[in-house]
Amino acid sequence: MKAVDTHRRPIKDLRISVTDRCNYRCTYCMPLDEYTWIERAGVLSFEEITRLVGLFVHLGVEKVRLTGGEPLVRKDLEKLIARLTLLDGIRDLSLTTNGALLAEKAAILKAAGLRRINVSLDTLNAEKFKQITQRGNLEDVLAGVFAAQSAGLAPVKLNAVIIRGVNDDEILDLVEFARKNRFEMRFIEYMDVGNTNSWSLEKTVTKREIFQTIDARYSLREVGRQDGRAPAVDYQFVDGGGEIGIIGSVTEPFCCSCTRVRLTADGKFVTCLFAEQGYDLKALLRGGATDEQVCQAITGIWAKRDDRYSDVRWQTIQSGGYQAKARKKIEMITLGG
Ligand code: GTP
Ligand code: 5AD
Ligand code: SF4
Ligand code: SF4
Repeated sequence: MKAVDTHRRPIKDLRISVTDRCNYRCTYCMPLDEYTWIERAGVLSFEEITRLVGLFVHLGVEKVRLTGGEPLVRKDLEKLIARLTLLDGIRDLSLTTNGALLAEKAAILKAAGLRRINVSLDTLNAEKFKQITQRGNLEDVLAGVFAAQSAGLAPVKLNAVIIRGVNDDEILDLVEFARKNRFEMRFIEYMDVGNTNSWSLEKTVTKREIFQTIDARYSLREVGRQDGRAPAVDYQFVDGGGEIGIIGSVTEPFCCSCTRVRLTADGKFVTCLFAEQGYDLKALLRGGATDEQVCQAITGIWAKRDDRYSDVRWQTIQSGGYQAKARKKIEMITLGG
């Protein structure tokens, strides 16, 4: 039973938010101190997540990514990883983290079966790091990324959201840090996720600008998107210094190849990063639905999917009518990015 949506896109990638809690309050994601958090009893158990992942794999999912909030604040996360590694059919199991707890967790995650990891690192300036994350410490994250490397997680990708006037002066510093230490640096266009950041198009440094800044110093050769559908376009340094990726969600959207689904910590199935609502799979699970009934619900929703938010946003921006706040989106901290 393999479903395609209204644009003939199959389900291939599953992003699971294991908690909506986060120990940071990044200004570009979740600047608010207070938020309506998911109640503990509403959070899916590891058994429930594993059951759902098994069903998604049956429906075509090959890649699974754990996110949050901050996934490493979920107690015993390694136990979930160990369970997921036992499922047949997952070709890629990875995790996106802010890195705050990574120094203590990297070896445990690796031992549980995690192979690779993506870590946010927007700046190498400790002061700026504090300003951006509001609660974080650069030193902890640096210790975390080196611990991940030592533990054998590979590749370790470093994600930097580039914001004009904030960290656009650090693109080459980040490239040099990554080249020197054999990390894979990825630059991300600043997006209007959720409802609480103060996004404006002027603050988005475009994929093209980022490319030109790097290519002028270290020549790049385009490799393309992994599996033809990843958000990042990858590039190799011509001198053999490794790879980087650039994610142009705003100015070079990639909805036409979007095979991603998202599962929130309370079991909502969400078909787009910019969705206003999800579909409650937890109610089905806890209501005693059979595997077949859950699969039918998923394929039914997927068959109707026509999401292409970033494509439409770019068209509307160009025609001058884009209102970032017009839609009440689910917060990224709930959705897992
Ligand atoms: P890899 O498998 O390592 O390529 O990971 P990834 O880039 O898919 O995941 P990661 O969690 O590192 O996300 C990097 C950036 O891409 C984040 O800013 C995400 O919000 C963004 N992103 C991921 N998926 C989508 C998507 O479907 N749409 C949009 N617009 N952005 C996405
Ligand atoms: N624009 C682009 N990327 C964002 N992320 C968080 N907020 C935004 C935003 N407004 C990124 C984080 C993390 C990934 C999951 O999403 O930096 O690396
Ligand atoms: Fe920052 Fe990630 Fe937490 Fe959002 S979820 S506030 S991007 S650390
Ligand atoms: Fe997929 Fe929605 Fe992102 Fe487009 S905006 S790539 S449809 S998640």
